[in-house]
Amino acid sequence: MSFPPAIPREFWGHNFDSPVMLASGTAGFGEELLDLQCLSGVGAVVSKAVTFEPRAGNPPPRLLETPFGLLNSIGLANPGVYHVLKHILPVAAGLPCPLLINVAGESVDEFADVVRVLEGSSAHMGYEINVSCPNVAEGGAAFGVDPQVVLRVAQGVSRVTDRPFSVKLTPNGGDMVQSAEAAVEGGASAITVCNTFLGMHINWQDGKSVIKRKVAGYTSPALLPLVVAKVWQVSNAVSVPVISSGGVSRGDDVLQLLAAGAQMVQVGTRLMRRPFAAAELIDEMKKLTGE
Ligand code: FUM
Repeated sequence: MSFPPAIPREFWGHNFDSPVMLASGTAGFGEELLDLQCLSGVGAVVSKAVTFEPRAGNPPPRLLETPFGLLNSIGLANPGVYHVLKHILPVAAGLPCPLLINVAGESVDEFADVVRVLEGSSAHMGYEINVSCPNVAEGGAAFGVDPQVVLRVAQGVSRVTDRPFSVKLTPNGGDMVQSAEAAVEGGASAITVCNTFLGMHINWQDGKSVIKRKVAGYTSPALLPLVVAKVWQVSNAVSVPVISSGGVSRGDDVLQLLAAGAQMVQVGTRLMRRPFAAAELIDEMKKLTGE
């Protein structure tokens, strides 16, 4: 790699308008953003997680803005894979950029079962396999911390699709490098580093967590150095590209993550305040690098 890093425009053998992806859970399936015209500068959209059955998600409150970030405990709310296939993907097919579908499951087999159904659509380029959600009792991050389970999930997905897929890992426990190596052994075409960090907000008057499920996933620009370190560790250990996720609020952050070894960079929480964050990040990067 040369420094400063060039702004990548190619990923998984395809041309991308930019290296900035919208992170799972922050943009639906992208279809709601079409009318808002805020997909300029977006390299790809990663969808909200899809499970086999519909899920209502966790009881509210399940979102809390903190002074420096956001706690979320959505609980993989989604309408289930058949609804997504029939009603959402036909609209999402009109996105001006590639779509990756984030897939979650309560069992090892569920990931492949969901992907098998989604193979009936041509609206998406590939998948992000979510073995790292911190907000569910079954599956979720418990899968991502065990390399043997990660291996079996990735092998199951590889058997049912020829499309590329990234495995999204958890920073909460386990050894991320070992899980990443297992994902690659199972056929993963990229590693997403990483899901949210465990966080909590306790009301000191009554000692109760504000979030109903108590512990939640935390995102914040303050986490950038933690994500940079994990991207650096994983990208030095595996042969497939790393997609970073977390901590981005400035073009400078994106360039730093590219320098750490990421090939694509997801932005999430920033979008809540700045729906045009992707285009803004690209402009900032161009100014910084003179490209
Ligand atoms: O609670 C949620 O739906 C979050 C999902 C995730 O972090 O993967």
